[in-house]
Amino acid sequence: MSGELSPIDKAKFVAAKRAVDFVEDGMRVGLGTGSTAAWMVRCLGELVREEGLKIKGVPTSTRTAQLARDCGIQVISLDEAKWLDLTIDGADEFDGDLNLIKGGGGALLQEKIVATASDQMIVIADVGKEVERLGAFPLPIEVIPFGWQTTKTLVEEMLISLDVLGRDVTLRMNGDRPFITDEGNHILDLHLNRIGNARQMAMVLNQVPGVVENGLFIDICDIVVVGYGDGRVEVRDINQGTVEKDRLDFTESDNLFSDLME
Ligand code: A5P
Repeated sequence: MSGELSPIDKAKFVAAKRAVDFVEDGMRVGLGTGSTAAWMVRCLGELVREEGLKIKGVPTSTRTAQLARDCGIQVISLDEAKWLDLTIDGADEFDGDLNLIKGGGGALLQEKIVATASDQMIVIADVGKEVERLGAFPLPIEVIPFGWQTTKTLVEEMLISLDVLGRDVTLRMNGDRPFITDEGNHILDLHLNRIGNARQMAMVLNQVPGVVENGLFIDICDIVVVGYGDGRVEVRDINQGTVEKDRLDFTESDNLFSDLME
């Protein structure tokens, strides 16, 4: 079964597989959203079912909550957990300072709340997500539906004064209707191409009335686990300044692949 995985899926899998090594008995763990995070939830579920790992998971979306339950992970709310030991999530882009763009899957609001409420955030990503400067991936912002077109205009006006290479703002669609987040909001995608000052952008965006949260994660991620299509993984720790290299075998976890071909 693993032979059918594309190199990018292998890269996502090995990053996820390596990241769950950080999870210990008794931890409260934030569970990210997206295709890479889905591998991680599967890997954690396998540890719960086969090795008796005892954890409580706080999912960052209804999709992840369902998957976690299906995998046998005990799911609790953030309010029940109050604080988390660790969150493991994917990203759309990460830079050398481990600042991120997230929200390609539309779950950025819960993802940011959960990651911020964690002692440690580990990002899992294939190496294609690494960038020198954030912004090639459209930056998602979550906006409330009331007056969203006015909010869009205000964001466009705000972008005029910022160091970016593109200023198109589009409403994310789901077929012929606006995409709706788990919180009942819309997503605007900002096509910026290059963000000169991500920290400033993150602060300014949240000043616009109607913007609930933006997909820039600044100084939140502690470790990125980078996966490669040939099974190599790198664990880069921004606080320790270390890079650990490893290589994982695909065959040992073939049972994970049987029902995950999304
Ligand atoms: C979900 O809203 C996102 O933040 C995801 O974490 C991000 O889009 C990465 O997704 P993939 O792992 O599917 O690339």
